[in-house]
Amino acid sequence: MYRTHTCGELRIEDSGNEVTLSGWVQRIRDLGAMTFIDLRDRYGITQLVVDENTDKQVAEKLKELGREYVIQATGTVRERSSKNKNMPTGEIEIALKGLSVLSPSVVPPFTIQDDTDGGDDLRMKYRYLDLRRNMVRKNLELRAKMAHAVRTYLNTKDFIETETPVLIKSTPEGARDFVVPSRMNPGEFYALPQSPQIFKQLLMVAGFDRYYQIVKCFRDEDLRADRQPEFTQIDCEMSFVEQKDVLEMFEGLTRHMFKEVLNIEVDEFPWMPWSEAMEKYGSDKPDTRFDMKLNDLSELVKGKGFSVFDSAEYIGAICAKGCSEYSRKQIDELTNWVKRPQIGAKGLVYVKYNSDGSFKSSVDKFYSPEDLKQWAEAVDAVPGDLILVMSGDKNHMLDALGELRLEMGNQLGLRDKKVFKPLWVVDFPLLEWDEESKRFFAMHHPFTAPKPEDIPLLDTDPGKVRANAYDLVINGVEIGGGSVRIFNSELQSKMFDILGFTKEQAEAQFGFLMNAFRFGAPPHAGIAFGFDRLVSLFAGLGSIRDVIAFPKNNAGRDVMNDAPAPISEEQLEELNLILNVKEK
Ligand code: AMO
Repeated sequence: MYRTHTCGELRIEDSGNEVTLSGWVQRIRDLGAMTFIDLRDRYGITQLVVDENTDKQVAEKLKELGREYVIQATGTVRERSSKNKNMPTGEIEIALKGLSVLSPSVVPPFTIQDDTDGGDDLRMKYRYLDLRRNMVRKNLELRAKMAHAVRTYLNTKDFIETETPVLIKSTPEGARDFVVPSRMNPGEFYALPQSPQIFKQLLMVAGFDRYYQIVKCFRDEDLRADRQPEFTQIDCEMSFVEQKDVLEMFEGLTRHMFKEVLNIEVDEFPWMPWSEAMEKYGSDKPDTRFDMKLNDLSELVKGKGFSVFDSAEYIGAICAKGCSEYSRKQIDELTNWVKRPQIGAKGLVYVKYNSDGSFKSSVDKFYSPEDLKQWAEAVDAVPGDLILVMSGDKNHMLDALGELRLEMGNQLGLRDKKVFKPLWVVDFPLLEWDEESKRFFAMHHPFTAPKPEDIPLLDTDPGKVRANAYDLVINGVEIGGGSVRIFNSELQSKMFDILGFTKEQAEAQFGFLMNAFRFGAPPHAGIAFGFDRLVSLFAGLGSIRDVIAFPKNNAGRDVMNDAPAPISEEQLEELNLILNVKEK
């Protein structure tokens, strides 16, 4: 038997008992007359002691030990003379009687503790050591707990957990596919699923009624803190439902998780039309933990001789509460911040509504205090507030103001990680116009149903058509997205048509789905949550890498096993890839 207890469970009540523990040597402190060893496993740390009463042979063995050795230790539990209240096992220690080394360790490249000395790259290279650290492992434990809560909830609601294939034909979700060459079918490729979208719809045609899967998805896109090339979705689909049924079901799932995992009751999720999110928050994923909404001042500020505003399509403002005392330097910093290429604004106009009711602005030359008072009223400013104004192309400025709003939220400490504000963003546009290729793209995906009342617009003004599509947004993060699906093959054909597919292309790519729809497709709708994002939100972390056991770095590399990597000539030949290159 390797152990009678874990390193996290012995307490004062166990005093006098003989126990055996196994684990890793966290540290050894040799104080001369006494030596302490902190023994660590997943469950905690227990202190082992060697003193003048310890068997000489056992004491001798200590010399062999080093950090991260795996050892088995036998001894008697006893009360510590100096207790450590910060540790669950801090009242006891084990008087060592027997010790054996199960596995030695070379010196680890960084210390295995919360405040480690290892940098990011080193920790990724030795991810298995990083995972020994409490704070990293805790995130993975949280992830497992959340996956369990998802399954519990969906199983009780009669969802069938079903696996769908990983080697598939490309599905269009907007990103590039990862492809896998087929040895048996020379010159042909599988794609890895960007999501199981088509399969879950086929499961609805198959009459499964309610499907879910916690599933790996693959997207070859530029990486960011909230994006990995392989990530996990909680993917779901339901039949005979309308939008509100789906939103209710998955609001239920989200609340269940908050309650089960964090013991938090969240408020009911408001529904916000996409257009309102854009106009008021400058984002389709508004952070509603704080107010500071965007205000359109376009009408109010034109015609006073300030040519920057007069020539702008849109002039918008936010009101930063209590910031009228911002210094010249702070305002300059904000101005530089909005001028960075990531934001790309030309400049920033400020209006200080001073505590004494007077105004000081960067446009005092053009606007009287009475004018500025009107601005203040329009943005709900009171004395003591700072109004920040930007002008330019409307879409760009909504975006820029949205970013500035988040930055001010950060500066003012309004984005508390312990506060959770979920909402549904609904009524997304169905289509997005791409200026470069001069064609429409599906904003969500090509199977998304238009709002019934907007269907006539498909023929006259497709860009105006709204979709029965929705996103779950929490604290400014897009956690999930889904839609009501088209289940009528004629409407689906029309969509493909608008998206610029020829009949033949549509047939080649989606023929099997269209064909399936001819055999009685139920009305259906679904959603997928980004599971990694949800876990990192629950954990209060800024990056999804921290909640993935073996993540890729920003260049899409696994630095631990050095993937991707070249393959041998033989493999290339076997896969007909050399031939293909030569033929080209
Ligand atoms: P969508 O493309 O919106 O919808 O994806 C659903 C959710 O998956 C998460 N997500 C990601 N997470 C980490 N890394 C990525 N690269 C990444 N890409 C997406 C986001 C997102 O909200 N098939 C549809 C769902 C449906 O219509 O039912 C789909 O995949 O949190």
